[in-house]
Amino acid sequence: MSPLHVTRTLPEDATDAALRDDVRAGLTVMPKSLPPKWFYDARGSELFEQITELPEYYPTRAEREILIARSGEIAAAGGARTLVELGSGSSEKTRYLIDALTSLETYVPVDVSESALVQAGEALIAQRPGLDVHALIADFTAPLALPTTPGPRLVAFLGGTIGNLLPAERAAFLTSVRSLLAPGDGLLLGTDLVKDEGVLVRAYDDAAGVTAAFNKNVLAVVNRELGADFDPAAFDHVALWDAGREWIEMRLRSRRAQTVKVPALDLVVDFAAGEELRTEVSAKFRREGVTRELAEAGLELTHWWTDPEGRFALSLSVAR
Ligand code: SAH
Ligand code: TRP
Repeated sequence: MSPLHVTRTLPEDATDAALRDDVRAGLTVMPKSLPPKWFYDARGSELFEQITELPEYYPTRAEREILIARSGEIAAAGGARTLVELGSGSSEKTRYLIDALTSLETYVPVDVSESALVQAGEALIAQRPGLDVHALIADFTAPLALPTTPGPRLVAFLGGTIGNLLPAERAAFLTSVRSLLAPGDGLLLGTDLVKDEGVLVRAYDDAAGVTAAFNKNVLAVVNRELGADFDPAAFDHVALWDAGREWIEMRLRSRRAQTVKVPALDLVVDFAAGEELRTEVSAKFRREGVTRELAEAGLELTHWWTDPEGRFALSLSVAR
């Protein structure tokens, strides 16, 4: 059995510096915001896995259905020898793809969550002893230094995570993904689709309160890493559908006027009663928009598959 290789592309103090910059920038402007990658410490990754099993959170199940039905076609389209997965998390759904990709030699999961990468990598190595797993702890919104591995290369970006980037970030991200590909290489992209508002809002505001706990976990991360004194119970979880921008917006609403100290930044932050901190968007897509955004990055959409209920789409595009 080949061992799991884990590479950290940024030193830990760079992560620290990035968190400080993001927290300072986000808490000293109006409206306040925090970028979503800070949700995913070990506890956040665990809460996200619980979200994927909630009755209201359909995207994981819908995408899994598509992968089960279409992995053979995906494999036939590319013959990939290297699979790179961005924001791989538990790699749970990826197994269907890995099993179908008969020429696959190397799997490169990329994630900011070290705990998720190590757990997923070890499980995969046990199941697929011949597979070379090279895990990369890295931020996929920054330029990626991938290990040298055999082509053709297939990059997978599942879970609808692309919807967590703002439109300008999305364009920059797709251009940077294109730069990882040689002509003929592929991108497999999971996108959640525009649908009934009630279904969408429930997926991000479940009855059991798991999504609320996940959203508030970002406050616990700032408390632990920067010595802040956020009281998670003093904030309410809010999920709203923005019909104009076609995205779900997640916020934390201050239940009362309060002051939060962030000692590591020498910062004191005032929240008015009812003031909201934006923590995440989750954009929902239509086929035309996905096709256009891919084309603008030099990627030509060749396949579009949805689950039978038309809730979620997987697209395959090829680098030109
Ligand atoms: N692909 C999995 C997980 C989706 S959740 C699925 O479909 O279920 C989003 C994942 O992306 C998490 O594992 C999180 O740790 C990771 N992530 C979020 N922002 C990131 C960033 N900027 N760089 C790298 N990984 C990131
Ligand atoms: N990529 C997931 C999504 O947008 C991430 C996610 C699910 C999420 N539920 C969340 C992020 C709640 C923040 C809060 O569907």
